Amino acid sequence: MAAMAGKLAGKRALITGGGTGIGREIAHTFLEHGARVIICGRRHGPLKETVDSFKPQYPDIHFVECDISDPEDVAVLAAKTRELLGGLDILVNNAGVSERGDLESTDLKVWDRVFNVNLRGAFVVTQAMLPLLKDSGRGANVLNISSNLGRQAEQHQVAYSASKAGLDMFTRCCALDYAEAGIRFNTISPGVIDTPMQDHNKGELGYQEWRSATEQMHPLKAIGAPRDVATAALFLCSSDAEWLTGVNLPVDGGMCAR
Ligand SMILES: NC(=O)c1ccc[n+]([C@@H]2O[C@H](COP(=O)([O-])OP(=O)(O)OC[C@H]3O[C@@H](n4cnc5c(N)ncnc54)[C@H](OP(=O)(O)O)[C@@H]3O)[C@@H](O)[C@H]2O)c1
Repeated sequence: MAAMAGKLAGKRALITGGGTGIGREIAHTFLEHGARVIICGRRHGPLKETVDSFKPQYPDIHFVECDISDPEDVAVLAAKTRELLGGLDILVNNAGVSERGDLESTDLKVWDRVFNVNLRGAFVVTQAMLPLLKDSGRGANVLNISSNLGRQAEQHQVAYSASKAGLDMFTRCCALDYAEAGIRFNTISPGVIDTPMQDHNKGELGYQEWRSATEQMHPLKAIGAPRDVATAALFLCSSDAEWLTGVNLPVDGGMCAR
């Protein structure tokens, strides 16, 4: 049976990119706390696998295939959200893509791909979901998953870092615009988390070498797990954080303390 108690009991949540990594773990944590959840992404496989694995314990999880860089897809996502959940209380803009490169090695197609998902995608999804969030009224909220790289410059991250820095400011602008309506907007900036997004780095070094090198990069000398981000997301999206809006919470083993 679905959990009826919990910090998000009965809340309706949409998590973009919820079929893998951090988004999947946010979905899991929200379900554990009584939320009703839709996850979306482009690939059928990970979405179905995630829903199939949680459904026996939490029947109220659904998936919608959706490319958030396509406004028509997102319009369908909004209609299906209304149909499946009857409204929306929490939106987590988690879907993202990472591409390394400096000014010369980042061609316009790569720049556009990164911005179309990480920043424009978050804008398109949030705009489409706003009527549902407004219907829910005070307590409705949006959480954007950014990165420590939105705050800290690193070499060869020109598109990714710029997109995430934009996402931070997008969050703060929305926080002010919708504060009077009682809709909160916050950001989490993770450090390095062990998810499929890191696969290319793991592939270059081998898993153990990548892990040790990455642990050393963080002041706490540890790498993050999706659960670290999910527990912070639970806090920010629940009524425990009802007086927080426009916040950018680093969940990064101390990276942003530098
Ligand atoms: N892992 C890290 O070290 C780290 C650090 C800081 C921030 N982050 C951020 O955390 C978020 C989650 O990443 P992750 O680490 O969990 O990596 P991940 O497993 O690769 O997750 C990214 C998710 O986004 C979805 N996605 C990508 N493009 C999409 C699109 N156009 N439309 C819909 N969904 C799309 C992917 O699904 P499909 O491919 O099926 O569409 C995937 O489920 C991202 O925003 C990332 O930038 C990650």
